[in-house]
Amino acid sequence: MHAIRIRRLVAACAVLGWAAVAGAATGAALGIPPVPVPADNPQTPAKIALGEQLFNDQRFSATGDVACSHCHDPQKGFADGPLVTAEGIGKLKGTRNSPTVLNSAYFASLFWDGRSPDLEDQALHPFVNPVEMGLPNHDPILAIVRTDPAYVAQFEAVFGKRSEDVTMREVTQAIASFERTLVSGDSPFDRYYFGGDRSALSATAVRGFDVFLNKGRCVSCHTIEQDRALFTDNRFHNIGVGVNRIQADIGELAPRFLEAKATGVDVDRAVLTDPRASELGRFAVTDTLDELGAFKTSTLRNIAITAPFMHDGSLATLRDVVDHYNNGGVTVATDPVNDFLSGGIRPLDLTEQEKTDLVAFLEALTSPQYAAQQAQKAALDPAACSTPTNKLAAAPAGGPTKGTQP
Ligand code: HEC
Ligand code: HEC
Repeated sequence: MHAIRIRRLVAACAVLGWAAVAGAATGAALGIPPVPVPADNPQTPAKIALGEQLFNDQRFSATGDVACSHCHDPQKGFADGPLVTAEGIGKLKGTRNSPTVLNSAYFASLFWDGRSPDLEDQALHPFVNPVEMGLPNHDPILAIVRTDPAYVAQFEAVFGKRSEDVTMREVTQAIASFERTLVSGDSPFDRYYFGGDRSALSATAVRGFDVFLNKGRCVSCHTIEQDRALFTDNRFHNIGVGVNRIQADIGELAPRFLEAKATGVDVDRAVLTDPRASELGRFAVTDTLDELGAFKTSTLRNIAITAPFMHDGSLATLRDVVDHYNNGGVTVATDPVNDFLSGGIRPLDLTEQEKTDLVAFLEALTSPQYAAQQAQKAALDPAACSTPTNKLAAAPAGGPTKGTQP
């Protein structure tokens, strides 16, 4: 009986993965704007299909078993929960929680600290980060795409490039094009707020929306506009996560990091391999003291399926997140706040009911393609979906999306 249930879940997961990709490619949904596409990298169906294959190709890693989808798994909302921080080649641990790539097409900068300007640039880094895909440089990727007959034909068809002329520019352009299809709106909240369907939200979620807008002041950073909501101001704030761990040593850590940077230390490598450097946040990118411990405001779309939360994965549940904000930027109410805390973070004095309502609102931000993933997380034993998908992710055939075709 257990085996049957697992098999049914795998089938459900597989269908979801495909629905997400196929549905999203057709255009913007309720609550999200059209996807911004750079003039020099127009979307085409063939390029998107190529990008999806590249995203799922495990050969682009030092051990041959880690694709982008290893940490951005379609069956886990394009993240890797319940891992606290990402696990790359040889199960090496990074310092940060894998964010979803869903709706990352809209972000003004990429990574928790915004160190990358666009999806094309972002895709260069994981391949060569020692705790992610671990390649010494990009040459092994080019060796594969210039010789694998299927890739040779596709790069020729999509970019008009002969095999020996294919570069990382085309590889990252195709990946970015695929990622630009991973957009999703049309959540219960969208149907309620933008679609005028008063029955789309439960009474508790409607009350939670009010807390989100007013007493909780969440909307001041997780923005909602007249006709769309990306739930991020695309800015950086210190909300008291992680930085508290290095608080006592900042006076020494910050200048040492700047010195290392001046001698050419790679920021991407430093922040993902050194847990203390990671907590410097946006400061590591801009060298600006004001931005110590500041991270990019996350989108809250599909948040219910990508636990644990925050750049360091330190908050396990949405209730924990709400408690953290309610305490005014500390996880344990009696802890002192850090010196660089954003002025927008203060104790909220929420009642237990208001906290429950706010969580219900956050849970109403899940797009229909991912509703079943949310239901599985909530209703079944939490391990139910992760057991089979872990196995599938490790299977050699083309990554999880392909590998789970029913
Ligand atoms: C070992 C796990 C791992 C692998 C493999 C991996 N990523 Fe990530 N990804 C992460 C983590 C962790 C972050 C956040 C790092 C940070 O912010 O410093 C991230 C961030 C991102 C972001 C930025 C999202 C945002 O909200 O700013 C995108 C886009 C992304 N990855 C795409 C990719 C692509 C494309 C690949 C393959 C080329 C890839 N990732 C491979 C773990 C991984
Ligand atoms: C001052 C700006 C600001 C305010 C106000 C704010 N947030 Fe955030 N929020 C952020 C930033 C920045 C992050 C990422 C922080 C990090 O990872 O260290 C974040 C992260 C989160 C996350 C985790 C996202 C993820 O992908 O892990 C949730 C959930 C969240 N906020 C909900 C809320 C709620 C609910 C409120 C209102 C009670 C709120 N936020 C108020 C800036 C803000």
